[in-house]
Amino acid sequence: MPEKVILVVDGQEMELPIVTGTEGEQAVDITQLRNRTGLTTYDPSFGNTSACKSTITFIDGEKGILRYRGIPIEEFTEAPNFVEVAWLLIFGRLPKRDDLAQFRDQLTANELLHEGLRHQFQHIPVEAPPMAILSAMLSNMACFYPGFLSLDDSDTFTEAAARLISKVRTIAAFSYRRSLGLPIIYPDPNLRYCANLLHMIFSIPYQQHVVTPEIEDALNLIFILHADHEQNCSAATVRTVGSSHANLFASCAAGVSALWGPLHGGANVEVLQMLERIHQGGMSAADCIAAAKARDKKFRLYGFGHRVYKNYDPRAKLLKQACDRVFATVDRSDPLLDIARKLEELALKDSYFVDRNLYPNVDFYSGILLRAMGIPTNMFTVCFAIGRLPGWIAQWKEQHDDADSRITRPRQVYVGPPCTAYVPIADR
Ligand code: CMC
Repeated sequence: MPEKVILVVDGQEMELPIVTGTEGEQAVDITQLRNRTGLTTYDPSFGNTSACKSTITFIDGEKGILRYRGIPIEEFTEAPNFVEVAWLLIFGRLPKRDDLAQFRDQLTANELLHEGLRHQFQHIPVEAPPMAILSAMLSNMACFYPGFLSLDDSDTFTEAAARLISKVRTIAAFSYRRSLGLPIIYPDPNLRYCANLLHMIFSIPYQQHVVTPEIEDALNLIFILHADHEQNCSAATVRTVGSSHANLFASCAAGVSALWGPLHGGANVEVLQMLERIHQGGMSAADCIAAAKARDKKFRLYGFGHRVYKNYDPRAKLLKQACDRVFATVDRSDPLLDIARKLEELALKDSYFVDRNLYPNVDFYSGILLRAMGIPTNMFTVCFAIGRLPGWIAQWKEQHDDADSRITRPRQVYVGPPCTAYVPIADR
């Protein structure tokens, strides 16, 4: 491992310190580079930039390792408990019984929406995309809870986190009901986190939807596997917005917007649409692979590839296993699962994907699992957002508590026109 890096600029040597992480990963500290040499670094899309030090999540993309606060992701799959994982991510240690009981009580106490917020659903077009509704409603929470715009003491922060994690579920369910013109179903304080969401989505007045333990566990698992993923696009967005000292609601609403795109969380919708197209005969699995390899890069094999993982995404592995378990218990099959397996097999044998280390990512199998629960495709990315919310909150808090944190403000290399005289409109 290198101990130092020497940069030679115009014959002058400059020593750049190295920052070393817990697992031995190293980064060159360039914070003094511009002051001392006038140079900045050029790294479009930040593919090679460590923007912060973090204690939340560790990923080894080459080995396919993912850990929350040091604990391998696989350890959370035996008795999946999303609320416990959320607490771990946000507060940095496994909760004791009392911590968990208190947080659960806060989630229950906050599961209803302010009536003002609830009435806003009536003015949203029925066909509105649920991710647009989610982002708007999280942002609107700032209007209804002004006491939580500044979170300088820990109790206020915990209450704000509980409000977000609890209400996101209610907002998601209400937006689904609205899209179908169905009456909204209020949360049931006797139900646990995931069962309560499924109840609000699927129950009808006077008839409670029955959630089997297998389905409840599978949803728990989905949320856990999506709960954090270090400096991904949406987490980096939440940090960027939070770095200006914007409030937690605004920062998380921005995270939802970033997540919506098809290269990020929106990929779970694209995967399902791709599988559907193959199922309906619009294209074959081989056509799909060929299109993904085309030079024009107009089509991607959604659910494949990752900026960090150059190996099988551990989340995809666990979701694939969960698909097998859930389909065995619900006693039915899904042709889309067979198509997904076939696509994976074809891609993993193809030199295009092999040479580029493109493997299934978290979005490849998650939609099939959500479909098995009856969750419609337009709610998939919303489910990703519900799972990711604790991660955004943890990232926001880590930055907020870091005395050295500064406003995020990248530099650029200007390549536009040189200094040019203004020409009055009559002379152009
Ligand atoms: N299909 C076809 N080609 C691909 C794919 C794909 N899914 N992913 C990467 N490539 C190609 C890419 O075009 C490039 O080719 P070349 O070397 O010929 O220019 C090469 O593989 C390397 O790509 P990369 O630099 O590793 O890609 P990136 O880091 O810029 O982008 C990604 C990462 C996830 C946006 C990309 O892999 C992708 O678009 N995947 C499909 C969308 C998707 O599934 N997104 C979900 C990501 S995981 C969950 C999440 O973050 O939300």
